[in-house]
Amino acid sequence: MLSVEDNERLTRVGPGTPMGDLLRELWTPAVRSASLEAEGAPKQFRLLGEDLVVFRDADGKVGVMQRQCPHRCASLALARNEGDGLRCIFHGWKFGVDGKVLDVPTEPADHREAFAQRVPVTTYPAREAGGLVWVYMGKRATPPSFYDFEFHFPPADALVRCAIVHGNWLQGFEGQLDSAHLNFLHSTSVPRARPNNIGVMLASDAAPRFEFIDKPYGFREAALRSMPDGSVYARIREVVLPYYSLIPGNHGEPRLVVVVVPIDDEWSAHWYYYMNPFGPVPQWYLDQAMDRSGADHDDFAADRGDVTNAWHQDRKAMKGGHFSGIMKNFVYEDFIIEESMGPIMDRSREFLGTSDTVIVRTRRMLLKALDDHAEGKLPFGIDQEIDYRAIRALAVRFPGETDWRALDTRNPSEFGFHLTDAAE
Ligand code: FES
Ligand SMILES: [Fe+2]
Repeated sequence: MLSVEDNERLTRVGPGTPMGDLLRELWTPAVRSASLEAEGAPKQFRLLGEDLVVFRDADGKVGVMQRQCPHRCASLALARNEGDGLRCIFHGWKFGVDGKVLDVPTEPADHREAFAQRVPVTTYPAREAGGLVWVYMGKRATPPSFYDFEFHFPPADALVRCAIVHGNWLQGFEGQLDSAHLNFLHSTSVPRARPNNIGVMLASDAAPRFEFIDKPYGFREAALRSMPDGSVYARIREVVLPYYSLIPGNHGEPRLVVVVVPIDDEWSAHWYYYMNPFGPVPQWYLDQAMDRSGADHDDFAADRGDVTNAWHQDRKAMKGGHFSGIMKNFVYEDFIIEESMGPIMDRSREFLGTSDTVIVRTRRMLLKALDDHAEGKLPFGIDQEIDYRAIRALAVRFPGETDWRALDTRNPSEFGFHLTDAAE
């Protein structure tokens, strides 16, 4: 349970709020690179409560700026993309990818240039990696170093898509950290989506023990489940605060990374990276991961329903043995639960238990980051040299007496661990 005040501090993300200011220190995923064509239509989006527009010029460079034209606030999502900049269709003012005012044709020719220099334009640095355009919305002259996660570079490969959810970013992120719900919410859907032994292992122990290693970027977490044969099934997740959950998979296999980003206080973008550290993402994995979900990669769960139709929950299927009655892809179950909490869940009304350890820990870290930031300290190690490429999650099974902390998640076999095996 949190105080109403702390809940507000954690969830409000607009400009000038404590969390909004802190999150603006980071590079933030915004839109899919593939959704922007060179000289194509600009795309409007909302991030941290700000309305923005993004476009790609003729050279392939990407520009991010305020959505409302600095002149008389027409939407620049309607603007012409003339290759070297966006021209507002209202009075023809033109802006380059760096936000520079290139033309103000409604002004007398002799002072256009001087006038253009005085027009205030909100523009943000942008870069591309891992199939996404990232934005830095902070005030510092130099943005922080970038997240060079392994799924941004070959030989790793990733396909990324997004779901837009009507719920604050933190309840989305906390849902990712809430490992105990796998045995319930997803108890029908996950074993069906992953036809290996994961369902059996999760079901063997519904009350996993959690252990942690603190990291400058967040923490490494092990959910440890005791198997009937005395072995331990460890799901070792990496949490890179404030947005990234690297979900475990078997060594040698593709896996998932989930990133939950605030659109504003009440809406969040859930980015799903289907990634393979070892090479191309195999089609069987994509088919399995994307089963029974929408085809629009910018909002793949738009057909989930809403509170007025109980998100299409199928009561008949529940009587027939389906646990949740949510018949779509298992991630719909997560989105629906988040929305069912209300747009900004009231954490002063919770009653937490042992299985909520990870959530409590994360909130504490976020609140501490807010306190530190108020004193001028940068959050989550972004001012430190961090080898993000080395951060990898892993699901592994090993003899009960072994310490999971000794494990190198990138080379687990060197330690003689029994890897989880799809055929087991
Ligand atoms: S509103 Fe855009 S040029 Fe006037
Ligand atoms: Fe889930």
